[in-house]
Amino acid sequence: MAEILGAVVTGAAGDLGGAVAASLAKDGHTVYAADLVAAPEGKNIVPVVLDVTDQASCFALARRAAAETRLALWVNGAGIFVKTSVADADEASWHKIIAVNLTGTFHGCSAALAAMKATGGRIVNIGSLSGQLGGRGVHPAYSASKAGVHALTKNYALEGAKWGVLCNAVAPGPIEGNMVRNFGEATLEKLRAGNPTRALATMAEIVRAVRHLGDPRNTHTNGAVLQINGGILMTG
Ligand SMILES: NC(=O)c1ccc[n+]([C@@H]2O[C@H](COP(=O)([O-])OP(=O)(O)OC[C@H]3O[C@@H](n4cnc5c(N)ncnc54)[C@H](O)[C@@H]3O)[C@@H](O)[C@H]2O)c1
Repeated sequence: MAEILGAVVTGAAGDLGGAVAASLAKDGHTVYAADLVAAPEGKNIVPVVLDVTDQASCFALARRAAAETRLALWVNGAGIFVKTSVADADEASWHKIIAVNLTGTFHGCSAALAAMKATGGRIVNIGSLSGQLGGRGVHPAYSASKAGVHALTKNYALEGAKWGVLCNAVAPGPIEGNMVRNFGEATLEKLRAGNPTRALATMAEIVRAVRHLGDPRNTHTNGAVLQINGGILMTG
């Protein structure tokens, strides 16, 4: 019997996680679609209600996925974004954002590595342009958490390679979807106009990058933080 390939996607009730989960499920992976709220059911989708700030839950999910499938991929997509001026950035949000975006990604990476050591696999973390650039109107914890995600990707890349587990991140700029609707249409228009490509990324484009980095045929990209931002960091 052909082996069943498994994938865990956190934040799978959200825009990006949902799109990644759907893409993997369409290609026949059994996808554990983990989120605080139940992800929609579908063919090859197993919704799992889970809080990524709870390390034990992440490890339990990794053990389950590795017992039921050949766990090939873990995508850390759960994240929260808080829009605020830097002057108004509050401490409660600081702790919450770090707990979900950074500690949650640590939990996912550590659970995935433990479960994939026997068979190898791929981990893909979702960073952000904000982790490279900071940015206006965003809680500093968001930028700090994403810079942390970029950094810990390299720790897991180095350690994981011993076990055939490669770990990479994507660092998207603003993506057309729910999260950036927070900014309002006028700001979005400015963001589009200010990008060298005169557009923002689409979810589909980020999904393709996640799928590439998470594919077993990717055997040599490891510890990379793939910038997907239309070239916004270049000046001149
Ligand atoms: N949308 C963008 O413009 C953009 C740009 C760069 C990076 N990102 C990153 O991409 C990822 C996905 O973003 P999105 O646009 O799909 O946002 P989204 O808000 O649609 O999805 C995020 C999901 O994470 C879940 N989540 C929040 N806290 C959780 C927790 N403690 N445990 C489990 N799940 C939790 C939410 O319920 C939600 O379903 C995030 O890490 C985000 O920071 C997004």
